Amino acid sequence: MWSDIMRVLALLLGVKAACILLVSSLSGTGAVNNSGRWWGIVNVASSANLLTNTKHVQLALDPSLALLSRRQRRLVRQNPGILPAIAAGLHSAIKECKWQFRSRRWNCPTSQTPTVFGKIVNRGCRETAFVFAITSAGVTHAVARSCSEGSIESCTCDYRRRGPGGTDWHWGGCSDNVEFGRMFGREFVDSSERGRDLRYLANLHNNEAGRMTVSSEMRQECKCHGMSGSCTIRTCWMRLPSFRVVGDVLKDRFDGASRVVYANKGSNRASHRTEPRHLQPENPAHKLPSARDLVYFEKSPNFCSFNGKTGTVGTSGRTCNSSSPALDGCELLCCGRGYKSHIEKVTERCHCTFHWCCHVSCLNCTSTQTLHQCL
Ligand SMILES: *[C@@H]1O[C@H](CO)[C@@H](O)[C@H](O)[C@H]1NC(C)=O
Ligand SMILES: *[C@@H]1O[C@H](CO)[C@@H](O)[C@H](O)[C@H]1NC(C)=O
Ligand SMILES: *[C@@H]1O[C@H](CO)[C@@H](O)[C@H](O)[C@H]1NC(C)=O
Repeated sequence: MWSDIMRVLALLLGVKAACILLVSSLSGTGAVNNSGRWWGIVNVASSANLLTNTKHVQLALDPSLALLSRRQRRLVRQNPGILPAIAAGLHSAIKECKWQFRSRRWNCPTSQTPTVFGKIVNRGCRETAFVFAITSAGVTHAVARSCSEGSIESCTCDYRRRGPGGTDWHWGGCSDNVEFGRMFGREFVDSSERGRDLRYLANLHNNEAGRMTVSSEMRQECKCHGMSGSCTIRTCWMRLPSFRVVGDVLKDRFDGASRVVYANKGSNRASHRTEPRHLQPENPAHKLPSARDLVYFEKSPNFCSFNGKTGTVGTSGRTCNSSSPALDGCELLCCGRGYKSHIEKVTERCHCTFHWCCHVSCLNCTSTQTLHQCL
């Protein structure tokens, strides 16, 4: 059985290795770029099979696991039950990205292709930074939660917080295991990134910013004990933030992202080898970005029109708000191209009455509403 599986895997990997060799020899750089490739597993994740079946054999046969690096597959094998968590984290990240950007020109488009987010991930603009940060946060969040729910064999609740806490409370109970989530994220998510260049440093920085956001938004939750709810003593533990909170914080960091360049002090080879490579603000007058800030190194395209080369889909056909002066307004969203309007009938339940006992009857009310769409 195993030898069959290995053969299938070897075949898949062999084919891919050949493609990569071809591409890299054509481009002449020799660099293999796996950036964010693991996102491709989100497509398998939608098949119920993956979400319910955590048997290694089944997983190994799933061809989309070939999107994972050898190291990532090993991590999945070593942590039974973790793949559904990774996939769920990715799903939340995609959902959150679309929500946060719903009224902007770039509205986090995704597709069924293995790259999921399209060509934006090979750039270095703010949107790229957000995609890396939110997906990395998604994995840490989902893994930390799955640990405390007991669905990953290699981790549990975080029980390090025990014993005395304050005057009228103590640590106890099951804290979400964000430490495991962060550690696993560093191993799994970051291992997709290769190289030593600006892009590599920026992607890793944004991955870490995503993980830090999850852990810094953890909150203490408590339960009262004592005679008839007198709350003389409380037991407290640490709970993950909702993923919406993570998305909100990262969206703020997107708005305040720092533009960075590669710090190349000490251009001679010897010091190059010992100096850790790092980023510095493009404008020397700016502060060094903190570990929680998102970083980018390239101006965003305007995302106005379709461009197959850069992979932007454009805003044609998007619904806009004719009375909004903001980004979702027709003027800005349609990039000045104008919009067309049409009237739509909307039928809603209305005038509902409650009948004893127990049903509700409603009338159907029809109203019209004007929709605007960018040309
Ligand atoms: C790898 O990254 C480069 C940018 O450095 C990009 O142009 C190229 O399309 C990427 N390759 C793949 C296969 O994603
Ligand atoms: C459109 O924008 C206006 C002004 O910002 C706002 O009051 C209104 O709720 C928006 N309509 C929709 C459907 O979002
Ligand atoms: C309202 O519309 C639904 C179908 O859209 C229909 O089944 C229902 O009977 C209607 N109710 C009334 C009170 O007309």
